[in-house]
Amino acid sequence: MPEAKIREGADRRSVLSWFSSAAMIGGLGAAYGTLAAFMGRFLYPAGPPDRGWMFVSEVESIAAGDAVVFETPAGATVNIARQGRGASAEDFIALSSVCPHLGCQVHWEAHNDRFFCPCHNGVFDPSGVAIAGPPGEAGQSLSRYPLKVEEGLLFIEVPFEVVVRGEGRVVEAPRPTGPGHDPCLGPRPSGPAEA
Ligand code: FES
Repeated sequence: MPEAKIREGADRRSVLSWFSSAAMIGGLGAAYGTLAAFMGRFLYPAGPPDRGWMFVSEVESIAAGDAVVFETPAGATVNIARQGRGASAEDFIALSSVCPHLGCQVHWEAHNDRFFCPCHNGVFDPSGVAIAGPPGEAGQSLSRYPLKVEEGLLFIEVPFEVVVRGEGRVVEAPRPTGPGHDPCLGPRPSGPAEA
């Protein structure tokens, strides 16, 4: 047999042998990787999720511009305002109703496009950043909660230990719009009988 043909055969055999070795090493790597993943999950099982979702209400039960106060089973109160005209989670915002100044209850004022704390006239922009009053001077903000909408239902994300305590509930329906009232500055002004 000519020497060139012998060398060509030897080259082909060495290429085939290289490919089969590479395939074997790859297969072994994948098998050991899967095994390691299973072992890791067995030895270090994933902990419970940090956060969970709670049902708030049907999207359409909160009109555009309105807000409700939602109370978690742990007693935290959250203003959920429908600031947009659509029906997605981006049209809502959920902010703690507890003022970061001294803990009074903050509420949404659609007619002023702001959240307001009547105790010391704390004013927050629609995203919850304080822009006036003591919280504004201190550069404070209202804590925000994630929201999601699924099949027309609105959900809020809260720490998981809150979820396992039970169900949350809407404790305050949309409040009538109008001038704010500051309980710390005196009695509600009397005027024409309210409906
Ligand atoms: S407690 Fe809200 S401004 Fe003081």
